[in-house]
Amino acid sequence: MPEAVLRFEDKEIALPTEVGSEGEIAVDIGRLRAETGLITLDRGFANTAETRSAVSYIDGEKGILRYRGYPIEQLADRCSFLEVAYLLQYGELPTKAELEAYEESITRHTLLREDMKHLFEAFPHDAHPMQILASATSALATYYPDALDPLDEEAIDISSRRLIAKVPTMVAWSYKYRMGQPYVYPRNDLEYSSRFLHMMFSVPSEEYVPNEVIARALNVLFILHADHGQNCSASAVRLVGSGQANIFSSIAAGIHALSGPLHGGANQAVLEMLEDIVASGGDVSKTVARAKDKNDPFRLMGFGHRVYKNFDPRAQLIKKIAEDVLGQLGRHDPLLDVAMELEQVALSDDYFIERRLYPNVDFYSGIIYRAMGFPTDMFTVLFAIGRLPGWLSQWREQATDPKAMIFRPRQVYVGANARDVTPIDQRG
Ligand code: CMC
Repeated sequence: MPEAVLRFEDKEIALPTEVGSEGEIAVDIGRLRAETGLITLDRGFANTAETRSAVSYIDGEKGILRYRGYPIEQLADRCSFLEVAYLLQYGELPTKAELEAYEESITRHTLLREDMKHLFEAFPHDAHPMQILASATSALATYYPDALDPLDEEAIDISSRRLIAKVPTMVAWSYKYRMGQPYVYPRNDLEYSSRFLHMMFSVPSEEYVPNEVIARALNVLFILHADHGQNCSASAVRLVGSGQANIFSSIAAGIHALSGPLHGGANQAVLEMLEDIVASGGDVSKTVARAKDKNDPFRLMGFGHRVYKNFDPRAQLIKKIAEDVLGQLGRHDPLLDVAMELEQVALSDDYFIERRLYPNVDFYSGIIYRAMGFPTDMFTVLFAIGRLPGWLSQWREQATDPKAMIFRPRQVYVGANARDVTPIDQRG
């Protein structure tokens, strides 16, 4: 590969480049400071790769997302969520026997230690589910001290399986506590999504059969959220892991990162925005005008993406699922009408066209979760359940990479220059 040449004042340095498997070329600046004294400034890492990664590939211009080379459209159509979780973590789709063994091992770990109930009960009833999930995930490390060594591949494997198995139970139990209903134990004869729905929505006094339409749609939604390159939460997981913190602490950090409204928290924010529009008479133009107003910090939630500048392939699939699920459940939701109108208005507006802002993964997902019966503040924990295999795969990739280094960015210091401390009685 040819080198890139950087010239500054009288110095010139040739920087090596390397090319990814889809042809993307990266300039390696690792020697830049040592040879020239220069550092680089790249706000929000918009232009910086910290790592090589083989987990997922995104082409933001063409609207492509692949996990381990497989288009998400095919995975969503032909695979179960656990099949995709296996693919992400181990690099290949499982054979039938491998999948059965994997499902069996996940199923064996769905129970929580009984003492963990007290953890949920320590939270206020109206605590946000993302805070509870992050805390419970962190707490899991205290129950499994034998499997925390980040350099032990067997420990990574068992901890990853425990997390995939237990996170839905933790989410459902935090909901049960909030509702004042008895905890429902995982039914291991059900598949992953149905088991979760059963823990969430069944009560001991009535028979509950998970709705197949909902379970299938949830399975696809989990798949569509399962990984997305070096996004904010995956980077948080890697950053914490880079200091060799244990996997539970790293995943808890990812959950916290996901909770923000610019990231996974957007799915909750979208629904609240749509509800506000309906409540104030259904006029979408005011919301669009606010989003365009430079003096108003408001943004059209569920619109825009750092990488996708054409369309978000997940959003296209999710819009279709929203229409199908509502149709199959025989429900009409005025929020879906408002969302579609908002999309039309925004997509024909110069502000959004010029900035290449399109609906993202969070724009339509909340409407489906709402139709499924989930409360609005649980939408982001559903994103977290889906993203978990991606985080675990990113964490494993880093933990097993001999070239991985602790994250330690530089800074352009702009503070005060050296000065002496004045004794307190002489200040003022
Ligand atoms: N509404 C109005 N204007 C927007 C929006 C929006 N949703 N998104 C970006 N812009 C404008 C922004 O003001 C800027 O305008 P200008 O060039 O005049 O200053 C321009 O578009 C570029 O925006 P940016 O903030 O530089 O872009 P970014 O890559 O840093 O931000 C984003 C990406 C997703 C944080 C942003 O588009 C946003 O805040 N969207 C709303 C929140 C959201 O839906 N988040 C979910 C993201 S997808 C799933 C996930 O990551 O969890």
